[in-house]
Amino acid sequence: MNKSSRKAIIAGNWKMNKTRPEAKELLEAIKPLVANADGKVEVIACVPFTNLETAINATAGSNVKIGAENVHFEKSGAFTGEISADMLVELGVEYVVIGHSERRQYFGETDETVNKRTKAALAAGLKPIVCVGELLWERECNITEEVIARQIKLDLFDVSAADAKKTVIAYEPVWAIGTGKTATADQAEEVCAFIRSTLAKIYDNATAEAITIQYGGSMNAKNCAELLAKTNVDGGLIGGASLKAADFNTIVQAAVQG
Ligand code: PGA
Repeated sequence: MNKSSRKAIIAGNWKMNKTRPEAKELLEAIKPLVANADGKVEVIACVPFTNLETAINATAGSNVKIGAENVHFEKSGAFTGEISADMLVELGVEYVVIGHSERRQYFGETDETVNKRTKAALAAGLKPIVCVGELLWERECNITEEVIARQIKLDLFDVSAADAKKTVIAYEPVWAIGTGKTATADQAEEVCAFIRSTLAKIYDNATAEAITIQYGGSMNAKNCAELLAKTNVDGGLIGGASLKAADFNTIVQAAVQG
């Protein structure tokens, strides 16, 4: 199997940005630009909880899919402030970002909770985008592979091969997120290839070859083509540049080109 047989996925991660009218405006601008990607590249906008219904209505009938930015692992109950997978599914949400480094850094997310959220999302029919990535000092200490292998093994613990194929892995080196510092295309390829080999060890080659692996971390209109041309980089998880329709579209078009 080669890259062309995997689903290319470009996902915007809006983080804590946009009110509902702003969300509608941005999606209305994105929709016509990316319409030609239909059937070639999966285009997703992961938006704040408050924007989900607006985003789903604004993108109805288009090829833009909507994702959430987090999900709780319990089905329901006394978890003030949390949102369940069933609540997202009922709204029409298809994807959910899990284990983003900002949640790991600022909100106590651990590999154990990432694993629980991933399993809850899959059980409810959501497709998880599971984020992994090393800190700068971990890269400097030359333990990037150990860190990534540990995250992949723990985050996907007890996830079946069939469910793993529905899961997207986003490689996001923490030092490259929102910093303007991008991993070079070679660095991104090296770690994405390592992630695939780790998946092959956990599952098997066919499963590893079927899983979409994204790069994220200051991907933008200028550097996207080089990153997305790499064999094991099947897409991107885009923060800052996903808030500008033209830039986001440039990245989608680069993915269409492969
Ligand atoms: P960035 O964010 O593109 O702004 O670096 C990426 C992400 O956090 O997913």
